Amino acid sequence: RILILDFGSQYTQLIARRVREIGVYCEIHPWDVDDADVRDFLPSGIILSGGPESVTVDDGPRAPQAVFTLGVPVLGICYGMQTMAQQLGGQVECSDHREFGYAQVRARGHSPLLKDIEDHTTAEGYGILDVWMSHGDRVSTLPAGFKCIASTESAPFAGMADEDRGFYALQFHPEVTHTRQGARILSRFVLEICGCEALWNTGNIIEDSISNIRDQVGDDEVILGLSGGVDSSVVAALLHRAIGTQLTCVFVDTGLLRLHEGDQVMSTFTQHMGVRVIRVDAEERFLRELTGVTDPEAKRKIIGRLFVEIFEEESNKLTAAKWLAQGTIYPDVIESAGSKTGKAHVIKSHHNVGGLPAHMRLKLLEPLRELFKDEVRRLGVELGLPSEMVYRHPFPGPGLGVRILGEVRKDFADLLRRADDIFISELRRAGLYDQTSQAFAVFLPVKSVGVMGDGRKYDWVIALRAVETIDFMTARWAHLPYDFLDLVSRRIINEIDGISRVVYDVSGKPPATIEWE
Ligand code: XMP
Repeated sequence: RILILDFGSQYTQLIARRVREIGVYCEIHPWDVDDADVRDFLPSGIILSGGPESVTVDDGPRAPQAVFTLGVPVLGICYGMQTMAQQLGGQVECSDHREFGYAQVRARGHSPLLKDIEDHTTAEGYGILDVWMSHGDRVSTLPAGFKCIASTESAPFAGMADEDRGFYALQFHPEVTHTRQGARILSRFVLEICGCEALWNTGNIIEDSISNIRDQVGDDEVILGLSGGVDSSVVAALLHRAIGTQLTCVFVDTGLLRLHEGDQVMSTFTQHMGVRVIRVDAEERFLRELTGVTDPEAKRKIIGRLFVEIFEEESNKLTAAKWLAQGTIYPDVIESAGSKTGKAHVIKSHHNVGGLPAHMRLKLLEPLRELFKDEVRRLGVELGLPSEMVYRHPFPGPGLGVRILGEVRKDFADLLRRADDIFISELRRAGLYDQTSQAFAVFLPVKSVGVMGDGRKYDWVIALRAVETIDFMTARWAHLPYDFLDLVSRRIINEIDGISRVVYDVSGKPPATIEWE
């Protein structure tokens, strides 16, 4: 297994995902772990990530010394290269020429890391790599024992290696797809230089998880809050496979779900998979507590609190249960960990209103804790969940509660559900669903005038929102074809009595958020 030390780069999780895709288990830990932690991890190799700091300041982050004394191969990337250079006796200087974006790197010699990996060849026979660079500082003197393995115009040492000790470093980012040969380079490091075997695949992950779950839980009973989202659905399927009837799911139907969603969750899990699910029909309770509330934050708080209360009421009835299962995934774990010094911390992801309290009498079971979202999805498919469920766009915890602007009312929710369903089913039919990262309808509580036949209508407005994004931190509005928008708009206005106008949201994030509230 591979240890990745995080110096705070936005790409650190990508490094881990690439290593896992190669088939090797890895974990991300903050750069300031102790020497003992590094040794106890028993890594077959270590990767030092990039980071936003400069090694030229005195108290910049440094790798634990054990990284260089353990006798395993090390790959430094960007900041990781600079700190490796400096810690091993080389020199790093602030460059007045910042390099950011595409670059061409000349690969030199025959280093085991880059040998025969190239995008082009120069007339003199040098290999050229198209790579993604992002750095200000650069290595100016190599540490003793190192040779240069790659260079660019502005960074004469864009790569270095001490093959005897298995130390390699790259100034560019092999983990991003813009570096076309990046996956091969990482694969070379992990499989050939570190000698790892590619054993991390969906089948093995399921087998391991099942045996871990059985060991942990024994004959105890387990409760799971099922929301219909990907993570809790995959936990349900996995636990069902591992412990069958020892699992009871509680599905709180808030009345703020999408069209027929509650029934679909029930039929998938109870009828098709035989999972025991208790459905709590809490629509009235949610609507009652939301009456008259218009402030978005207040609405979120009410929905979150009520959800937890109802879940607790139900789970308290299941007196035999000893475990509470949760769909925590690896990015949640990394993002809540951070480094001890608070330096180079990762940007926090959106808080999840559906999170359940840990103060319960139950022990926590988190079988997806080590997995990335794409791994969770593959597991879901392998476990027999419908792929529409596994690859569904994200849906916020507070549901339609934040897509009905202002006060939440049942009649608004019913109109919105139908409009949203038309939009989504047309996206699917046009083959556009998987090309957008998230799409949905929003209910605007304003009335606008329309004409229907001979009569005038004075009815509500629906906004359509569709975005493309990788990380949901930034997003661009999806440039859906006009003909497609035209079709959706006509269907919504013609089929839904109560809607007289449809608008399309053309705001990017930032400054607009993806949701409207
Ligand atoms: P924003 O609106 O902040 O949303 O651009 C980014 C992503 O987060 C989702 N979102 C939420 N998810 N609980 C969730 O589980 C929430 O309270 C919540 N608010 C926003 C949103 O749908 C988008 O995918």
